[in-house]
Amino acid sequence: MATSSEPIKPIEDVRDISAITYGFMASKALFAALDFDLFTRIEGGIAQVPALARATGISENRLVTLLAALKSVGLIAERGGRLINAPATSKFLVAGAPGDFRDYVRLVNGALGYETFRHLSGALRGERVFPDKGFYEGLFYSAGIGGQQFSSAQHSGSLGPAHLMAKRVDLGGRKRLLDVGGGSGAYTLAFCTANPQLKATILDFPQTEETARKYVQQSGLTDRVAHLAGNAITTDWPKNHDVVLMSYVWSAVGEDDIAVLARRAFDALPPGGLVLVHDFMVDNTREQPPFAAWYLLGSVLDNPNAVCLTPEYTEGALKRVGFKVEGTEVMLPGITMLTRAPKPA
Ligand SMILES: C[S@@+](CC[C@H](N)C(=O)[O-])C[C@H]1O[C@@H](n2cnc3c(N)ncnc32)[C@H](O)[C@@H]1O
Repeated sequence: MATSSEPIKPIEDVRDISAITYGFMASKALFAALDFDLFTRIEGGIAQVPALARATGISENRLVTLLAALKSVGLIAERGGRLINAPATSKFLVAGAPGDFRDYVRLVNGALGYETFRHLSGALRGERVFPDKGFYEGLFYSAGIGGQQFSSAQHSGSLGPAHLMAKRVDLGGRKRLLDVGGGSGAYTLAFCTANPQLKATILDFPQTEETARKYVQQSGLTDRVAHLAGNAITTDWPKNHDVVLMSYVWSAVGEDDIAVLARRAFDALPPGGLVLVHDFMVDNTREQPPFAAWYLLGSVLDNPNAVCLTPEYTEGALKRVGFKVEGTEVMLPGITMLTRAPKPA
């Protein structure tokens, strides 16, 4: 298993504590900047405070304060009286940019993530935010947010990693992919595009189907992608698929349901079939990487039985139901890992 493994250095200075306690304010500055699409405006040439104030409707004094916060974390800079985006800002936080994932940052982390973390201490005590529902049904698909909005935002965050995974995992010899908790279908689309012989089924809650259908249609893949609306824990899985993918699904359910998903994958696949589990995972010592560790804290919010996923845990859950694990590799460095496991022939 490949991970970066320099141990995390214990902090010694009070400023290191300050960096943590103030850190959420920087996140909020970024989310607010995206609410006003500030970086797109700067990229488009609105490079001075008065013009930016007019374009956004933010008064100059307030805008200057926001810009100071954005400069302090390197998202933008001011050179010769003109505002400019940092290279990564231009590439990922501007409308039409190649890696544009503004909606993921603004909605999934900024709106939903930030709001749900308000409940963290209660969740650690074992309180449930939505006693009768799971994380997604309760938090993301409730009135006011809506599956469509969440799923579109998730799509903008998943496109990059999906493309990467489709390049790394060769499904050239496979016929059908079952994308469990497939959401907007980002991974299905990437795999189908990379493998012209492949067909796929996206299984997810009904609230996501319309969004997935839209993206499938836009990609011209309607004849190769089917949709199955249901709950992956209770809805019957089709049996005629030779690959099962679960991306960011194990971190959305508790330990009991992880065991159910592993078992269901094994039962659904033919001998030689392949399961792919892609998720936020920390290393086996559960010390790092930070983004994965922080994200996994979020899974406690509505799952008292949520698991702090590691390669060892994931591989163990798959081995217990009979898979022969090939290994776990880093997918998005510092964030996600992928475990591959065939069902013995
Ligand atoms: C973070 S999103 C990831 C979506 C997609 N796999 C991707 O990587 O882009 C997690 C998805 O799992 C789905 N999900 C979670 N629990 C589920 C369940 N019990 N049954 C079906 N889908 C589920 C959610 O609806 C959501 O679309």
